[in-house]
Amino acid sequence: MGSAIVVTSGKGGVGKSTVSLGLAAQFAANGERVLLVDCDAGLRSLDRMTGTEEALVFDSSDVVSGRCSPAEAIYPCEGIPGVFLMPAPANGEELVPASAMQRLVPLLKRYFDRVILDSPAGVGRGFRAAAAAADRALIICNSDPVCIRDAAIVRRLLEELEISEQRLIINRFNAEYFQSMIPKKTKKKFGKKSVPEDKPSGVIRDLDDVIDLSGVQLIGIVPEDRTLSAAFSVGRMPENGTPARMAFSRIAARLNGTSVPLVL
Ligand SMILES: Nc1ncnc2c1ncn2[C@@H]1O[C@H](COP(=O)(O)OP(=O)(O)O)[C@@H](O)[C@H]1O
Ligand SMILES: [Mg+2]
Repeated sequence: MGSAIVVTSGKGGVGKSTVSLGLAAQFAANGERVLLVDCDAGLRSLDRMTGTEEALVFDSSDVVSGRCSPAEAIYPCEGIPGVFLMPAPANGEELVPASAMQRLVPLLKRYFDRVILDSPAGVGRGFRAAAAAADRALIICNSDPVCIRDAAIVRRLLEELEISEQRLIINRFNAEYFQSMIPKKTKKKFGKKSVPEDKPSGVIRDLDDVIDLSGVQLIGIVPEDRTLSAAFSVGRMPENGTPARMAFSRIAARLNGTSVPLVL
C-alpha cells in the first residue's frame, strides 16, 4: 500500500505543480512507482509539463463517474521515466469532490508506492478535494511575507482536515533577494548602549522567521533555477546535477526519513 502526499500552498503560482513533478521524478528515479494526480480542475497544467497533453482522452472525473476504468485515465510520462499522470478535468465544473477522492485515492495507493496530489490555488473546494484523502502534506511557499502568511492559514485548514503531518518547502529561493530583505544593522545610540532598530514589519529576517511565521517544519529549499521551467515546458527533466534536481533529491531523501542536511 502506497502513501498519498498533497502539495498545496494557498497562493497560486508559487510552484506546487513544479515541486509535485520534480519530487515525482525523484521518487521514480529512486525506484518507486509514482502517480501524479492533477487536482486543478479547469486549470490543469501537469499534462503539458509532462508532455502527455496530446495523448489524453480520460481524466479523474471520468473515473469517478464510471465512464472509464482508473487504468484508462493513467498516462505514462515518456520524458520522465517511472512517472504516471492522472489528469484533472479540463472543465472546472467537473471537479472531483472530496467524497469521491476519498474513494479514489485508496484505490490508487494499491497500485502505486507514491500518489502525489497537486492541489489548485486557494482554500476552496478544489483544495479540500485534493487534501481529502492525503496522508501528509507539503506546503509550498516562497520568501514573500504574504505567501508565508498563506502557508500558516493552510496549515490550520489541514489540521482541521486531520492532516497533522505537514512540512514546508521554500521554492524559488534566491539567496541574494533574501539577503536584501534583511534590514541593515543600523543602530541607535542610547548612552553607552547600542540598541538595534526594531525589525520593520513585513520583513523576513532569516529562515527561522519563515518557520516561525508559517508554523510548519521546513523540509527543504528549492532554488530559483531556470533549467527547471525550461525542461518542464517540454515535458522533460532538467539535467542531473542542476541546482533544482539536487534539491529534489535531498527533499525526497528527507521525506523518506534519511538524514540529509538542509542546503541553501
Ligand atoms: N524553482 C523554480 N525555479 C524557476 N522557476 C520556477 C521554480 N518553481 C516554479 N517556477 C516557475 O513558476 C511558475 C509557476 O509554477 P507552478 O509550478 O505552475 O506554480 P503553481 O502550481 O503553484 O501555480 C512556472 O512558470 C514555473 O516554471
Ligand atoms: Mg499548479
